[in-house]
Amino acid sequence: MQPLFSSDDIARRLTEMGQQLANDYAERRLTVVSVLSGAILFTADLIRVVGLPLKLEFLRASSYRGTATSPGELQVECLGDLSALAGRDVLIVDDIFDTGRTLERIIERLNEARPRSLKTAVLLWKTERRQTSLVPDYYGFQIPDRFVVGYGLDFDGDYRHLPGVYALDEPGS
Ligand code: IMP
Ligand code: MG
Repeated sequence: MQPLFSSDDIARRLTEMGQQLANDYAERRLTVVSVLSGAILFTADLIRVVGLPLKLEFLRASSYRGTATSPGELQVECLGDLSALAGRDVLIVDDIFDTGRTLERIIERLNEARPRSLKTAVLLWKTERRQTSLVPDYYGFQIPDRFVVGYGLDFDGDYRHLPGVYALDEPGS
């Protein structure tokens, strides 16, 4: 495993993101919607550095990667009441933007709740793999097309607990 970002790198970047979000969402009615399970560490750290009053909701998204994926095959399961998002300034927090299909589908679903605004924040953005016109509104780091684990990200359920982010595979493999 090759280290990409240490816990210190992440903490420093999150402080910057937190300041940006604190400016952008001051005087707003912020609801953070965290995408389980990958975004748990990122969400926990980010909401503490934003330092604004906010509400926290969760959803689970399961994609069928490696199959003939179309947006309709992505399941989005809201764990709370979707109507709680009406009129709120909603920030979706996810671990990684890869093809963007998952966030695209989540946005489609959450828009049904008529939030006042709907934006996205991801820790990592794999810029080479984007398959939609969507781009994340806030991101921590842009990364090349490598499979990464740690800080919430898993490979087959493992490595989520690691405090930093690591590339699992070798370039080109
Ligand atoms: P997308 O729909 O292609 O953007 O995929 C997003 C989801 O795929 C993420 O929320 C992750 O759960 C998973 N994913 C994509 N790339 C990686 C990776 O490098 N490591 C771990 N999970 C990943
Ligand atoms: Mg995910």
